[in-house]
Parts: sequence; C-alpha cells; structure tokens
Amino acid sequence: MSLPRVLIIMTTTLRSVCICAFVVWVAGCSAADAPPPPPPAWEVANPVVPLPDMPLGVSKTFKELPDPPTPQRVRLGRWLFYDTRLSADGKIACATCHRPEHAFSEPTPHSTGIGSQEGGRKAPPIVNLAWTLYPHFFWDGRAASLEEQALGPIANPVEMGNTHEAMIATLSKIDSYRPYFTAAFGSDEINQDRVAKAIADYERTLLSGDAPWDRWRVTKDESAVSADVKLGHELFFGKAGCNQCHLGDNLTDSNFHNVGVGWDAKTRTFADEGRSVISRNPDHRGAFKTPGLRDVALHAPYMHDGSMATLLETVQHYTKGGNANPQLDPKIQKLPLSPAEERALVAFLEALTGNVPRQTPPAAFPD
Ligand code: HEC
Ligand code: HEC
Repeated sequence: MSLPRVLIIMTTTLRSVCICAFVVWVAGCSAADAPPPPPPAWEVANPVVPLPDMPLGVSKTFKELPDPPTPQRVRLGRWLFYDTRLSADGKIACATCHRPEHAFSEPTPHSTGIGSQEGGRKAPPIVNLAWTLYPHFFWDGRAASLEEQALGPIANPVEMGNTHEAMIATLSKIDSYRPYFTAAFGSDEINQDRVAKAIADYERTLLSGDAPWDRWRVTKDESAVSADVKLGHELFFGKAGCNQCHLGDNLTDSNFHNVGVGWDAKTRTFADEGRSVISRNPDHRGAFKTPGLRDVALHAPYMHDGSMATLLETVQHYTKGGNANPQLDPKIQKLPLSPAEERALVAFLEALTGNVPRQTPPAAFPD
C-alpha cells in the first residue's frame, strides 16, 4: 500500500472515531442537560434550609449540642410536626395544640385532643428548648429529652390517640416520605427513633430572641424599651426576686417549684399533684417546672392549668405570696410591690416578645 493511501485510510478512520466520539458526547450532554424533573409540590413547600442564626439574646449555639440538628432532619421534622396523619383519626398534629402564632402554645387553659377530649394541663410554649439547665420536659419533667417527649403525645389517648406501631405503619405506606428519611438518616427505614429525632430537631430550631428587652440589655439601645420596662427589669432581678427561678437566656431554671397553683384550701388537696407523681417525693406535691418566659405575652392564659387569664394576674399571685400550702417553695414570700410596680413587671414581661421570623406550616405534605 502506498504511503498516501495509508494516510487517507488513517485520516478517514480518525474522522469516524471523532464523529462517533462527538455523537456520543452530544448524546451524553443532552442527557445531562435535560432539565431535571421539577421537585414535587411538597418539596417546594418545604425545602432544605440552613439552620437559623441565633437571635440577639440567645448566647448558645447548635454546635455545642452533643448531636446538633441537621437541615435535612429539620425539614423532615417540620412535616411530621404539622402532619395530622400521625394521629389515630388523621385530624390532630403536634401543631394543633402547639401553634406557631402563640409561641407554639395555645390560647386555651387546657388542650383538646382526639375526639374532642380535654386534658388537664396547658400546652407549654416550644421556644429555645434546645438548651436547658436540666433535661426536664413536660410540666412534671417526666421526659428527659425532646426525643423522648415527642413520642408521648402520639400514643397519649387524649392527645393523638395512636399507637407507635400504627403511626409507623401509616407513615411507611406514604412512599414519598421515604426519600426524605434517606436524606435525613442515610436509609429509607421509617421507625420511631427517626420520627422522634426529626421532630426534636425541628423543635430545636424554634427560637425566640431579639426582643425589645434584648435590644436594650445587649445592644444598649436606650430607646428600645420604656421606663416602665426598665423598672420592671430592676424589680424582676431585684426586690421581687423572680430571677431566683426564672433565670438564664430563657428565664427558667428548668427545675420544679410549688408556687401554690391548684391548691384547694378547703379540701387541702392539689387538683394536680405535679412533680411528686414522677419523683414519688411528697415534698414535690404541687410542684411544676418553671416555664421559660420568652414570648410569654403570646400565650395567655397562664400556669400549668391555664388558671390565670392575664400577666397582671400572675404578677399579683406573687405579690400576695402565692397560695399558702404545706409544700409552698420558701422563695415565695409576700412582695412589697405597689400597683405601679406590678404594672412595670407586666411591661417587662411584654418586652420579652421576640422578633424572629414566624414559622408557618408547610403548604403541602408527601402523599
Ligand atoms: C392535644 C394537644 C397536644 C398535642 C396534639 C401535642 N401536645 Fe405537646 N403538649 C400538650 C400539653 C397539654 C403539654 C403539657 C403536658 C404535661 O406537661 O403533662 C405538652 C407538652 C409538650 C412539650 C413539653 C414542653 C416543655 O417545656 O416541657 C413539648 C416539647 C411538646 N408538648 C411537643 C409536642 C409534640 C412534638 C407533639 C406531636 C408529636 C405534641 N406536643 C402534641 C398538648 C399537646
Ligand atoms: C420559686 C420559684 C419561682 C419564683 C421566685 C417565681 N416564679 Fe414564676 N413560675 C414558677 C413556676 C414553677 C411556675 C409555674 C407554676 C405552675 O404552673 O404551677 C411559674 C409561672 C410563671 C408565669 C406563667 C408563665 C406561663 O407560661 O404560664 C409567669 C408569667 C411568671 N411565673 C412570672 C414570675 C414573676 C414576674 C416572678 C416574680 C414576681 C416570678 N415568676 C417568680 C416559679 C417561680
């Protein structure tokens, strides 16, 4: 074969190789360039978002937690928190009683759960619960973590009325939940621990801060609060001694005290025995966990039984020295407060309402 002929064959071959390669490349590219299928409506309604920044006044970080929340677990937990399918009749979600606009509490003395049944206690707010001085959850501290707590209401006969097994069976039938369990936990298994963890992580991101009180106290903005609020602050941390129990960023010692709520002087009994049922210590009769006070103005009525309608009523309860009873906490004493000072304490409590973007329920759920 002559040299030119060899060259012609070689260049032709090379050309076909190039054309083939080009065709393969174009085919490959067009597959890669094809727009991905649009995300389902529920994902658009609840995308993965970064963990929130700490608001002014919260001196903690997620990093200091032993197992910090992840954005994927928080997204999944947000769905689960608002999803009524976790209850036996498909009508009650955590958010039925823990409503975002009331600091995840509700404006009623008692909660109404499945089949319109009423419980005996007020739904507490869920803000800044990621960090607590003691791991006490519920008014009587019967759960030791948010994970343990989250499973309680699902199987509580007057709350969501379900069993854990039935709840897992229902969720397991919703195929479109599976990719989000994979994103959150690495595999698509749906089990109690994962449901609890995801809900607890969502709860950890419910924050309150940047209140007028923080802007005055932390950033020294003198115009952030009124003179009444400043006087209320002085009383709260001074002669009224409120900070003996309401302390730290969230204004709670997360411990138990009897301030006399629910004591009936005639029958000498408590409507609710509180902590003593759990601790089996009679000294703890009528004792309840000190509630945090951030956003307190958003969720009247007050106390574990919702028996006080206004903040002024709560302050006056302390002015008169609580309700005398055999287990009354010795820190509760009659207070020498004038009506103007009582009003200043109320103004202080109102200045604890945070300025954090309000949570909303997801508009769509995996179906
Ligand atoms: C029917 C109303 C109702 C439903 C539904 C409900 N809760 Fe509650 N929640 C309450 C009440 C009432 C309490 C206080 C009960 C107690 O202390 O004994 C409470 C307490 C809590 C607490 C304790 C807060 C603290 O400071 O100790 C958390 C956290 C909480 N609920 C989260 C949830 C989650 C998560 C769900 C859904 C899985 C849920 N709740 C469903 C009414 C409800
Ligand atoms: C001995 C500890 C202690 C002291 C001191 C104390 N508190 Fe409390 N506070 C509690 C406990 C415990 C509760 C819940 C009691 C219950 O529900 O039975 C509570 C409840 C409250 C509530 C209702 C919050 C809610 O979410 O329902 C307000 C408001 C409040 N306290 C403000 C004050 C003020 C103001 C002072 C000072 C005048 C004060 N506290 C002093 C322990 C204390």
